[in-house]
Amino acid sequence: MDDIAAVRKILSEGRVVAITGAGVSQESGIPTFRGVGGLWEKYPPEDFATPDGLMRVYKHDLPRLTQFVRDFYLALTEATPNRAHFGLAKMEEDNILSGIITQNIDDLHARAGSKKVMELHGNAFRLRCMRCAKKKMFSIVEIRRLLDHASSGPSKLKMVKMITHFFKKCDCGSRMRIDIVLFSEPLPSDVWQEAWQSIEEAKTVLLVGTSGVVYPAASLPVHAKELKKKIIEVNLERSDLSDLVDHVLLGKAGEILDQLTS
Ligand code: OAD
Repeated sequence: MDDIAAVRKILSEGRVVAITGAGVSQESGIPTFRGVGGLWEKYPPEDFATPDGLMRVYKHDLPRLTQFVRDFYLALTEATPNRAHFGLAKMEEDNILSGIITQNIDDLHARAGSKKVMELHGNAFRLRCMRCAKKKMFSIVEIRRLLDHASSGPSKLKMVKMITHFFKKCDCGSRMRIDIVLFSEPLPSDVWQEAWQSIEEAKTVLLVGTSGVVYPAASLPVHAKELKKKIIEVNLERSDLSDLVDHVLLGKAGEILDQLTS
């Protein structure tokens, strides 16, 4: 039996939980974080993915921060779900998949129709109040309007206005911020507990497009291994997690999910 057929058979037994990373959205045009052309190559995470770093860039290099926000959100607002997102949504509809634990903040699993999505690192289209924790979605149209406005003439006022719009006032009087997890920040504990429990209840864990180098997310497949769950990996290349898994399917996530679900 070839690998695809063997994996299809395992998946057909159900109780599958997927753990996804940036590679699942690469075919939607969103750059991954690591590797050639990755986001961190152009924008070092110590400056652009930590609270202190972002504050430093805001104070000392506002044009660069504006450029980062534009690059980052342009890719997110232009992207649409690809075959990998739709394949996972279909698996859930067919009662094979019980949920997706994602490190992605691009909202593409939900937009592909997936119902149970556990967002470990938050969602770039959501704001969260820093005091009362109330949440509010930010529409693609609204974000595009902001980006277009800031690029219509590079004045300092326009840049500040664009950035501060991401810190809208909440009804409670406090400020909101983008609901994503930066380095050094804790993961949302309710999502983390739900993810942990999903792994415990799963029969099979399907890793799609993650390098497996960022913890605590990468401890989930390690825990699955300890519990003797079957683990399947879909990736362009072998990752830090490949030695743990039962089957490695090398190739583009869209193509492989198509083969697994058609
Ligand atoms: P990475 O950028 O670290 O890894 C992306 C993985 O996807 C790599 O293993 C690639 O080989 C693989 N890949 C790329 N294109 C693919 C494709 N078309 N099909 C299949 N696989 C593909 O992204 P993550 O593992 O998601 O966290 O990174 C984890 C976390 O690190 C992110 O959530 C982010 C980042 O720093 C925070 O910002 C907190």
